[in-house]
Amino acid sequence: MRIDILCLFPEMLLSPLNQSMLKRASERGLVHIAIHNIRDYTHDKHHTVDDYPYGGGPGMMLRPEPVFEAAETIRQQLGISEMPTILLTPQGRLFSQSVAQELALYPHLMLICGHYEGLDERVCDHLITDEISIGDYVLSGGELPALVVVDAIVRLIPGVLGSQDSARSDSHSNGLLKYPQYTRPQVYRGWSVPPVLLSGNHGEVAQWRRCQAILRTAKRRPDLLKKANLCDEETKWMLENSLNPE
Ligand code: ADE
Repeated sequence: MRIDILCLFPEMLLSPLNQSMLKRASERGLVHIAIHNIRDYTHDKHHTVDDYPYGGGPGMMLRPEPVFEAAETIRQQLGISEMPTILLTPQGRLFSQSVAQELALYPHLMLICGHYEGLDERVCDHLITDEISIGDYVLSGGELPALVVVDAIVRLIPGVLGSQDSARSDSHSNGLLKYPQYTRPQVYRGWSVPPVLLSGNHGEVAQWRRCQAILRTAKRRPDLLKKANLCDEETKWMLENSLNPE
């Protein structure tokens, strides 16, 4: 997979992309992430990327020319005329595990990080194919959201995680929060690991984990339960335990 990120502050991306899972995925050739500075696509002496909004109002806007020129130059260099071109913006559709799964299927993505008070609407109308928000709060730019999106996508690329089961058992991958987990020591400060996890009975362990995931989701994120794929027996069990799946 290849991801091109267009932004105004490349340094914000460099270090996080060069650590841990993202670094390993790049080194192993499972993903190629290219960062481009939108400012490099200006032609005036001061490399101006921003300007005042027509009609007045606070703040500055990102001008359309360098954004179009950056995106079109990169597409041309790659010989690709169309690819998902995603703007990170608080006005976008909400990012989630299922959006990450959807985006991880593309061979190529372009992410555009907004800044200032926003982008000229003609960029949204004629260049952008998707707009994504990482949550209902406003950050000062799209670089941090782009990192969030890239991290969530890259770990889904086959071969990136040590075990393919890791991504499958993540919180949200089955619509539920993840079950509680324990490692050594077996007893710490008098607190013991649940005995079922030491039993060696894989069936019982799987069943315990599924119940714990449902219980945790019911307590912390009841809104998620509506969309989770519970079987009839699980729904009945929840009702018996006064946990409402609605
Ligand atoms: N840019 C600023 N805030 C953002 C958010 N919440 N999501 C995506 N991009 C943003």
